[in-house]
Amino acid sequence: MSELDKISSIFDAKIGSAKSKEDLQNLKTEFFGKNGKITQQFKTLASLDPQKRKEFASNLNKIKDDLTNQLEEKSSEIENIEINQKLKNEKVDITLPVRPYQQGKIHPVSQVIDEISSIFSEIGFSVAEGPDVETEYNNFTALNTPEDHPARDMHDTFYLDENKKILLRTHTSPVQIRAMLNGKPPFKIIVPGRTYRCDSDQTHAPMFHQLEGLHIDKNITMGHLKGCLDYFVKEFFEVKKIKMRFRPSHFPFTEPSAEVDIGYRIENDKIVIGEGDKWLEVLGCGMVHPNVLKNAKVDSKKYQGFAFGMGIDRLAMLKYGINDLRAFFETDYRWLSHFGFDPLDVPTNYRGLSK
Ligand code: DAH
Repeated sequence: MSELDKISSIFDAKIGSAKSKEDLQNLKTEFFGKNGKITQQFKTLASLDPQKRKEFASNLNKIKDDLTNQLEEKSSEIENIEINQKLKNEKVDITLPVRPYQQGKIHPVSQVIDEISSIFSEIGFSVAEGPDVETEYNNFTALNTPEDHPARDMHDTFYLDENKKILLRTHTSPVQIRAMLNGKPPFKIIVPGRTYRCDSDQTHAPMFHQLEGLHIDKNITMGHLKGCLDYFVKEFFEVKKIKMRFRPSHFPFTEPSAEVDIGYRIENDKIVIGEGDKWLEVLGCGMVHPNVLKNAKVDSKKYQGFAFGMGIDRLAMLKYGINDLRAFFETDYRWLSHFGFDPLDVPTNYRGLSK
């Protein structure tokens, strides 16, 4: 047996038992590496006489090609086996029954914020936000509530520094100032968010939620305000008709100001919103005071508009028959699974808000 035949048969035996890419790599080094068996043979060529060299070189090249082909074939064979093995391991049995799982619920306050945002977005309002930690200036002074104004006492403010310059916002109204200073009129925004007052009982929590509305443009009147709130209240309570009254009131940042009441009655111990001879206060509103526009760098000769503010938690309690506000913030999972909403059921006007 010639030297080349020997090499060839050693290779045949070894490639037959190669199982992995690593085995193949070792084989490649053994035969074609720097000191590999085939490489060695090429090195002997120089010492042969011309006639023999030609014949030997031709045989050597044939064997080299043959071994290289075998290595390539084996390599794709191993690759296939590996892919099939991987596919087999990654197989998912879709006939398995679903494992029982606990689904989270959307808190009624979040639900109501989504509902209200959806209702107002239908008529062109966009959602704006501001920080919970505010300056005394934005929370009061810029809103036409100077230092000695009695309205400040009514707010039971949490101040965060000794000089009473930084506070937890007592209402969402300071975002009116931020929004107007940050852009150019017209403005048409709603602002849901957290607000804080030092107060706690069955219907008051130190942290609660408000929603502010602001619409500033040319020629905006109290008529637009009434139309906007009439639309909102009907959409929110999902009723066709609702009794509503505007009661004169006072807020430093609006002139004139009003509070809005809606009619209701009690039927079988349940509240029925919309009709009846009882009145329920749901929000405060008015035409934005020219001083507020001035502080927010808006030309009050050219632009005017309305603002409103409402308590979100109270609206959620009314709509969903929840009678203790404190439960909202106790993070009791049993309460949430009863009063919470399906996370996949995003409220929209056209698909329905709460049903
Ligand atoms: N900020 C008021 C409050 O917390 C609510 C309010 C009333 C907001 C009238 C307004 C408004 O924008 O026009 O009690």
